[in-house]
Amino acid sequence: MTDQYAVTGNPIAHSKSPSIHTEFAKQTGEDMAYTAVLAPLDGFDRTVDQFISQGGKGMNVTVPFKQEAYQLASVLSERAQLAEAVNTLKFENGNIFGDNTDGAGLVRDIKENLGFNIQNKRVLLLGAGGAARGVILPILKQLPDSLTIANRTAAKAVELQQQFSAYGAITGGGYSDLAGREFDLVINATSSSLNDALPPLPAGVFASHALAYDMMYGKGLTPFLLFAQSEGAAQLADGLGMLVEQAAESFFIWRGVRPATLPVIELLRK
Ligand code: ATR
Repeated sequence: MTDQYAVTGNPIAHSKSPSIHTEFAKQTGEDMAYTAVLAPLDGFDRTVDQFISQGGKGMNVTVPFKQEAYQLASVLSERAQLAEAVNTLKFENGNIFGDNTDGAGLVRDIKENLGFNIQNKRVLLLGAGGAARGVILPILKQLPDSLTIANRTAAKAVELQQQFSAYGAITGGGYSDLAGREFDLVINATSSSLNDALPPLPAGVFASHALAYDMMYGKGLTPFLLFAQSEGAAQLADGLGMLVEQAAESFFIWRGVRPATLPVIELLRK
């Protein structure tokens, strides 16, 4: 029987995950189907239970349920524990295994697709919400020279520093602390691009060889990327590659097969 998978969120109609996983399945010959399931805002657990009782093997979880998925999982990966959020569920032997592939997807896109090696680099991460928290551990595991977190509400960045300091060289603060400092990689994990806003970055934070990465996709050049360009950053990237790579990582968790991502990224860019 064809194995059933789905992405759930609210809203969910515009999710690209069904097309991505359907491409992966076609490419690898895996016998699986992948659909989108709308969960009511007060009915996440119920939606998952229903999917399991219909024989579902796994789910992706998106906004606004990643924290609820973290609560629901009976077994968690280390990276999901630290992210306090789950985007991948696997149902096996009555257990609900929860993982978070967002950070691994980001790191893979940066390393493999953009050819940028994070090791020994000065990394600046903007934002201290769920999106930022989810990528910290995978970035630290790449052994950057340093990871600096800047947030509008500085206290939240300081909290992240305290929580992750055992895992690598990490500091947190406000945007004004960035004056006079330069970074090799700057990642926008704020929700600013959703509102066409620009995080209050001082001039001079982009080294001339810097990669500027916006986790947002589908918006063209965001105010963050335009600012990076005007500041002379060498390379600009949106989050579409991360989206496909986090999906590939989920696919691998479920099926034990790693799909090729570049053809799917190209397909989505069209
Ligand atoms: P997400 O799950 O996308 O991370 P979130 O948890 O609501 O969403 O966090 C949003 C993040 O974007 C926060 O770090 C927020 O900064 P504050 O903590 O100071 O609110 C940041 N953010 C949103 N709009 C921003 C803007 N215009 N400039 C800078 N930071 C912004």
